Amino acid sequence: AKVIAVVPAAGIGSRMQAERPKQYLPLADSCILAVTLDVLLSHPAISEVVVALNPDDTYFSALPQAKHPKLRQVIGGAERVDSVIAALQLIDTPASWALVHDAARPCLTHTDIDKLLSSRSQFPHGAILAAPVRDTMKRAGNNGCIATTVPREALWHALTPQLFPTAELLLALEQAVQAGVNVTDEASAMEWKGVSPGLVSGRVDNIKVTHPDDLPLAALYLEYHRH
Ligand code: C5P
Repeated sequence: AKVIAVVPAAGIGSRMQAERPKQYLPLADSCILAVTLDVLLSHPAISEVVVALNPDDTYFSALPQAKHPKLRQVIGGAERVDSVIAALQLIDTPASWALVHDAARPCLTHTDIDKLLSSRSQFPHGAILAAPVRDTMKRAGNNGCIATTVPREALWHALTPQLFPTAELLLALEQAVQAGVNVTDEASAMEWKGVSPGLVSGRVDNIKVTHPDDLPLAALYLEYHRH
């Protein structure tokens, strides 16, 4: 079955406090989104990359990746989930797998993509890249005090890519949104449908660039990966 990458890139990155959307901030001689797209476009198992853009986007058309034969564009929505749904609706191959990956995670490696793709035999309903929590976890109570310590043994950070059969994922996302579920990743919609997606251990340096401090860190990781 075909693997089609979906890249939600329609956010405005309000937490970055930058003059342009964070996916267009400079990174490794280009920008965050260009680096992310290059990782996906250059992977031999990915036949197509659908990128969801903000309706007011004025930057994307200037990227060299915009003209890549594997790339398609779609207008995203108000929330990340709406952008993913818009992209999935463009994919008409019923037997395909959708590999959903945040534009803001430029440090993804082909090795981690391969690991996730290989997990399909073990997890036929889909899986996500994830990393075990390292710190001791606290649940906050009132007035800034610790209410309790949460056992961290079973806790994972949900990363992307997240890989699911396209038709099953689209249905789950649409129904979860309809039901008012707060869908912050693809897996949460599948879980709501009663599916238990697999956890595939991924690199902890596959960070989501969210705050200004994350950008030099992403640059450092990319440099590190090259050596
Ligand atoms: O804001 P956050 O970092 O959680 O966004 C994760 C990803 O979802 C980013 O790549 C962002 O561009 C994308 N997004 C989107 N449509 C929205 C909001 C966020 O495609 N409405």
